[in-house]
Amino acid sequence: KRVVVFISGGGSNMMALVKAAAAADYPAEIVGVISDRADAGGLTRAEAEGIPAFSFVRKDFPSKEAHEEAILAKLDQLQPDILCLAGYMRLLTGSFINRYEGRIINIHPSLLPLFPGLHTHQRALDAGMKIAGCTVHFVTEGMDEGPVIGQASVPVLVDDTSETLANRVLTVEHQLYSLALKLLAEGKVRMENGATVATIEA
Ligand code: GRF
Repeated sequence: KRVVVFISGGGSNMMALVKAAAAADYPAEIVGVISDRADAGGLTRAEAEGIPAFSFVRKDFPSKEAHEEAILAKLDQLQPDILCLAGYMRLLTGSFINRYEGRIINIHPSLLPLFPGLHTHQRALDAGMKIAGCTVHFVTEGMDEGPVIGQASVPVLVDDTSETLANRVLTVEHQLYSLALKLLAEGKVRMENGATVATIEA
């Protein structure tokens, strides 16, 4: 399966997918990286891996629709089967999502439905959580609310700061995302009637 990864920042999740996809038996290849920021560190990392990387800066376009149209035109060239949002800090419109219905996944650094949105680690600490983690889910029109594919958890330690917790979660994000993409690429999970359906092999 052909995969395009969307980033806005350093792209550590994108790199985890690139490394996983390098294995001969991995059922997906990363064929492109798209960023909404020209200065995203992940763009350079992708290029160093020989992966075509493109930035589409929102302010260069007259509207959100025009911005998305430019990205969709690039996707028409790359012909991806699956889109992976990885630290992509922009909401996609319903019409964009519909073009790739059931084939867009995202990683979010909390155990959804807890803590959708931003600053998830600080919010978990403020709430006194003893467990934290991340979620890979299908992307639907609402933010961080699509059907869940998988989750990974880590303990919260008494002296944790949002930084120490973020680092601990990031480690399991990388593991979870590679596994989730594998399951989707192999057709072992799919989205059906708004829910995640696992096809357990007999
Ligand atoms: C990660 O915690 C990811 O879950 C969140 O952004 C953080 C940085 O991601 N969306 P990356 O290093 O750019 O992949």
